[in-house]
Amino acid sequence: MIIDILTLFPESFGYLNSSILKRAQESGKIQINLIDIRNFSTDKHKKCDDYPFGGGAGMLMTAQPIFDAVKSVQKENSKILFPSPVGKVLSPEYAKNLSKQEHIIFICGHYEGIDQRVIDLIKPEEISIGDYVLTGGELPTMVIIDCLARFVDGVITEESLNEESFSCGNLEYPQYTRPQVFEGLAVPDVLLSGNHQEIAKWRNEQSQKRTKEKRPDLFKISK
Ligand code: ADE
Repeated sequence: MIIDILTLFPESFGYLNSSILKRAQESGKIQINLIDIRNFSTDKHKKCDDYPFGGGAGMLMTAQPIFDAVKSVQKENSKILFPSPVGKVLSPEYAKNLSKQEHIIFICGHYEGIDQRVIDLIKPEEISIGDYVLTGGELPTMVIIDCLARFVDGVITEESLNEESFSCGNLEYPQYTRPQVFEGLAVPDVLLSGNHQEIAKWRNEQSQKRTKEKRPDLFKISK
């Protein structure tokens, strides 16, 4: 999968070069390119923002640099996403579908937003990461990439995917590692028993209990 990120702030994407996403790129499963929208501005000072017509607070990103940046990378099979609070909210199913795309282009808005004509002409899919407003599309873009990358074949194991919260509707069970006792708290005996059937049963019970307590809206009986 190839991901092109169009942004005025390429320096804010350091997170993508660490841990699992770094490995996914090194092994060629995902290629991420950062494209500086400012390089496409035809203004002699490379200006990319201006005051909104009709007045109002703050600045808007102008249409021309974004439009030309998109055209420089768009192919027939490109999925173009515009992170915005007005979009459909990201879910595991949505992320899984995105993980099957060959090419995704993210348009990162900033300041008070972007000129509506970019949206009218390019018709990107608007996608939200929740009902709150952030200062730009950079963080949502990283959130969406992190979430979809986990569904790209080979980025994490099938087992980890299946055991995560939400994979069967409920939240994930509690996990423990060494030492066996920490600050007087011991790891539950069943996890040390070596009895895989009992462990699976305990985990399923814990998962249901946790979901009922913490997110009763999500609760599902699972076997
Ligand atoms: N840009 C600003 N706020 C956002 C949000 N909640 N989701 C996606 N993009 C955004």
